Amino acid sequence: MYLHIYIWYNMQKTVSPYIDSRATKKEQVANMFNNISKTYDFLNHALSLGIDTLWRKKAIKELLNSQPKNILDVATGTGDFAFTAIKILKPQRIIGVDISKGMLAIAQEKILKRRMEQIFEVRMGDSEQLLFNDNEFDAVTVAYGVRNFENLDQGLADMLRVLKPGGKIVILEFSKPKYFPIKQGYNFYFNHVLPTIGAIFSKDSAAYSYLPESVAAFPDGDSFIARMIQAGYSNTQYKSLAGGICSIYTGVK
Ligand SMILES: C[S@@+](CC[C@H](N)C(=O)[O-])C[C@H]1O[C@@H](n2cnc3c(N)ncnc32)[C@H](O)[C@@H]1O
Repeated sequence: MYLHIYIWYNMQKTVSPYIDSRATKKEQVANMFNNISKTYDFLNHALSLGIDTLWRKKAIKELLNSQPKNILDVATGTGDFAFTAIKILKPQRIIGVDISKGMLAIAQEKILKRRMEQIFEVRMGDSEQLLFNDNEFDAVTVAYGVRNFENLDQGLADMLRVLKPGGKIVILEFSKPKYFPIKQGYNFYFNHVLPTIGAIFSKDSAAYSYLPESVAAFPDGDSFIARMIQAGYSNTQYKSLAGGICSIYTGVK
């Protein structure tokens, strides 16, 4: 009962990038990522001191046992999670979808530069209405994407639809550290350092204020697992990284 009230309460809260905008969250998110696409990779690595690469690897390794041949990377952005999957899992094919043209343009440049066009293809696509058949993919991956969905439950349900029975989803997302001193250090860094550096280098100050605000309002840990179960995933699990700064969520269809 309390869990349902908690889930309902969280579903009512929507944090969008631009406070004064009348556009939907999805339109705002696509605009924001178009604005920051050219500096996204640089700032990602710089602001995380390169740790984002380690977290991506750790998350992708959750799929080592299932050896997926055919993968869908949702909210692929500039493609870094998919490139990590290619390196570690050596799939036959991976398709990346995203709602931001700007982010996909960078991903496409990287695909051509690395000569990976036979393995990795990117397309415009919305996680909440995926243009794929039911039961099409051995695995679905999402890094730092679910927090940006306009409708998380619809996104989780549609990703489940395109997974093959027995297929696995791996979700990497920021979470909220609970304990001293990581909690205090993280709050200071996320609320003060990151928005300031982000505003200087990305020329979109809203983007790096939206980051801590969206993490604060987003379900993590058991609350996120509850949403996955509600969407229909089984064998759900999560692992906290770096004292809870990030979490890896997995589930099976
Ligand atoms: C923080 S970036 C993550 C990119 C990449 N996965 C990575 O690990 O660097 C989030 C991405 O989610 C995309 N996104 C947000 N909502 C989406 C949706 N409903 N469907 C598809 N992509 C979405 C954004 O356009 C953006 O490129």
